[in-house]
Amino acid sequence: MYETIVEDSFTIFRFLVKNSDRNINYVLSCNTTKECVIIDPLDKDVIEEIIKQYSLKPKYIFNTHAHPDHIKYNDFFISKYKCPLLAHIDCQELFEFEFENVFENDVIKVGNLNLKVLHTPGHCHEHISLILDRYFFCGDLIFNLGVGNVNFRGDVSMLFRTITHKIKNLPDELLLLPGHDYLKNNITFLQSLYKDSSEIGSELDGLLSSYDSNQLSPLFDIGFEKKNNPFLRIDEFSFLDFLEKKDLFKDEKMEFRFKLLRQLRDEH
Ligand SMILES: [Fe+2]
Repeated sequence: MYETIVEDSFTIFRFLVKNSDRNINYVLSCNTTKECVIIDPLDKDVIEEIIKQYSLKPKYIFNTHAHPDHIKYNDFFISKYKCPLLAHIDCQELFEFEFENVFENDVIKVGNLNLKVLHTPGHCHEHISLILDRYFFCGDLIFNLGVGNVNFRGDVSMLFRTITHKIKNLPDELLLLPGHDYLKNNITFLQSLYKDSSEIGSELDGLLSSYDSNQLSPLFDIGFEKKNNPFLRIDEFSFLDFLEKKDLFKDEKMEFRFKLLRQLRDEH
């Protein structure tokens, strides 16, 4: 039903929500105090099961952004556990309920843990992410081998800047914990980009052949994304040379290439 990632001082609970959008919900808890933060609650029953099973004490609810599939059970958890909601200040125009605003470089204390906030706009302007140790809770900013869409209050130029100037500068070892599991579609998109679909390489080929839609995909780090995610590779000749529509990408402006790639992904 859910997976646990156990580190010395904290535990991450993660599970695939049973919906067509393949949302992933997370609960992050301090091993010493049992305080926890619930991230983007969409499946309240499994979250409740985790809280009960491990006797956790919800301290905060954290929203990476205000899209409906990330905020559905805010109300429920706020009233049940009397814990504040944390979100970006731009959610003021979008939320009817009270929240505390958090921003770039804020540190959120949950038990003995210090979670760092990054402002990561593009998928929508209020998007924020969290870093704890080597884990990166990145919402709908970046997925394995893809990035968030810009169809609902998004801004593709801003997304380009966040990915290029912020995400590409993060350490390779940081593990992505995205808000959806889109690995399979992103691999087939990548295949569609190449003149020869086998150019995706044996690692991605293996992931595709062992893919099970009922399971969460494994964790991948930023180094894997720098090597394989097309949105992080638009400046590489070695990537562009193999593309079916290479001519479309001949414009030297990286922002143009990024927008084009996002558009092709939308059409996939
Ligand atoms: Fe979203």
